[in-house]
Amino acid sequence: MSTTDQPLIARDVHRHYRLSGKDLHVLRGVNLVVEPGQRVFLCGASGAGKTTLLYVLGGLERPDAGDVQVLGRSLYHIAPKKRAEARNRTMGFVFQHYFLLPELTALENVLLPSMIGGTRAEKRARELLERVGLGGRLDHLPTELSGGEQQRVAIARAIINDPAIIFADEPTGNLDAATGTGVIDMLMSVVSEDRKTLIVVTHDQELARRGDRKLVIQDGALVEEAG
Ligand SMILES: Nc1ncnc2c1ncn2[C@@H]1O[C@H](COP(=O)(O)OP(=O)(O)O)[C@@H](O)[C@H]1O
Ligand SMILES: [Mg+2]
Repeated sequence: MSTTDQPLIARDVHRHYRLSGKDLHVLRGVNLVVEPGQRVFLCGASGAGKTTLLYVLGGLERPDAGDVQVLGRSLYHIAPKKRAEARNRTMGFVFQHYFLLPELTALENVLLPSMIGGTRAEKRARELLERVGLGGRLDHLPTELSGGEQQRVAIARAIINDPAIIFADEPTGNLDAATGTGVIDMLMSVVSEDRKTLIVVTHDQELARRGDRKLVIQDGALVEEAG
């Protein structure tokens, strides 16, 4: 079994925040197995812990207890530097607010994760921008792009290193319905073609029906909803 055939696993994950002397126990024992290539939509009320869980799964936020395994390896029982490397190599992130660097062009933004990984994958970056319909916008700055275009740059950036897993946190939250649908179509098509795993946070119930699975976070744990 090659490593890319390994599921994403969360085991009894807990995470709390301490605010003004009070403990907020956000994740209270999350268990999850996501098979390679599955497209999972994660729903839940505002403040339920969706972002927290996504960040824990993506190696961005250490759980208080429990562990996450990606490609057969623990994400938190390794040094932070190794975790950052694993993240850059195996995971891509798309956020609600795009988080493009404002002083870099579309092409440079897409190139960035490849340069952090030690290679400047310019040909691939150009191809990916073509693929998301932005072949004519390579040299545009983020401010010179619409919201939907910026999010498509963010998608190209998320897949530049050919990650096995893509995480997206309310990727259409800032877009009008039609533009949002276009962005999700794009995301679904790139992950399906490349058989990547996709985990998307959304509170759009229509959208959530488009995945292979729909999970709801409730009282700090996951509930699987029938499709
Ligand atoms: N850094 C933090 N410090 C304190 N509380 C936090 C922090 N991050 C999130 N929270 C709280 O944890 C809860 C879950 O947050 P979050 O995961 O962002 O929810 P969601 O994405 O589902 O809206 C919320 O009540 C939020 O206020
Ligand atoms: Mg959130």
